Amino acid sequence: MANPKTTGPAQREHAPADIAVRDLTVNFGQLRNVLSGVNLCVPRGEFVALIGASGCGKTTLLNVVAGLVPVAGGTATVLGSAPAAGRKDICYVLAQDALLPWRTVQRNVEYGLEFSEAVKDERRQRARVYIEKVGLQDFRDFYPSRLSQGMRQRVSLARAFAVGRSVYLMDEPFSALDSQTKLLLHDQLLDLWDKSGATVVFVTHDIGEAITLADRVVVMSQNGTGVADEIAIDIPRPRSAEALQADARYHDLYRRTWTALKASMQ
Ligand SMILES: Nc1ncnc2c1ncn2[C@@H]1O[C@H](COP(=O)(O)OP(=O)(O)OP(=O)(O)O)[C@@H](O)[C@H]1O
Ligand SMILES: [Mg+2]
Repeated sequence: MANPKTTGPAQREHAPADIAVRDLTVNFGQLRNVLSGVNLCVPRGEFVALIGASGCGKTTLLNVVAGLVPVAGGTATVLGSAPAAGRKDICYVLAQDALLPWRTVQRNVEYGLEFSEAVKDERRQRARVYIEKVGLQDFRDFYPSRLSQGMRQRVSLARAFAVGRSVYLMDEPFSALDSQTKLLLHDQLLDLWDKSGATVVFVTHDIGEAITLADRVVVMSQNGTGVADEIAIDIPRPRSAEALQADARYHDLYRRTWTALKASMQ
């Protein structure tokens, strides 16, 4: 996997595309052209935020990449092969955390590793490390029912990154959280991702979130006809979600993204 410390935008231009969607069409039975003519190429190690009007097909596009929705026209490839459900190189994170209520935080994070080659001691140790990365070391023995929504989503992140996948698909993972908790999770996600070298497609309705996290914001057209606009987020890393709030570049990018989003809805 690419070393993120040496992988900037210039290197990524020459990196192989982990996700390549070309002229994609998706139909749902009688509902034709939910997506049509969609093109999206995501080089290895890039963090892309996907925004667009409700119903424009963002989740559908992630589902195609995850192999959960069939391609009616065009092509989609992930890590060089056709999408397929249940692949071990892709991790899908949703707004609704998928924690197992009968397992503690520690055992939930270990869960993802149970499908890996890691032996029990390694799994335990790796889970501890990732729980610490999201600041939940004092809650290792808690069950999910005793955690706040933000803490639960931190456990989900720890579990997702502990398994070390190449591609992360994230569908509004923080949409249910208050804005302060979101800022905290943005920093934790950036920290987890920065050391992973993974490729991320992150769907959100929150422009600030998209700019804070991504290398590139992709704006989808309202009618599912593909990418309406793209905004390169040229703010250097490492970034701090809190510091960005006072950064003029952030506000300029916010205005540009909002203008592009409004245009995509006309
Ligand atoms: N399984 C399905 N069967 C039929 N139609 C579907 C199915 N899934 C999605 N659709 C339709 O496809 C379109 C795109 O839906 P999708 O969920 O991808 O949008 P979205 O951009 O993720 O919206 P939101 O921002 O509200 O999450 C919508 O018109 C939706 O009603
Ligand atoms: Mg959606």
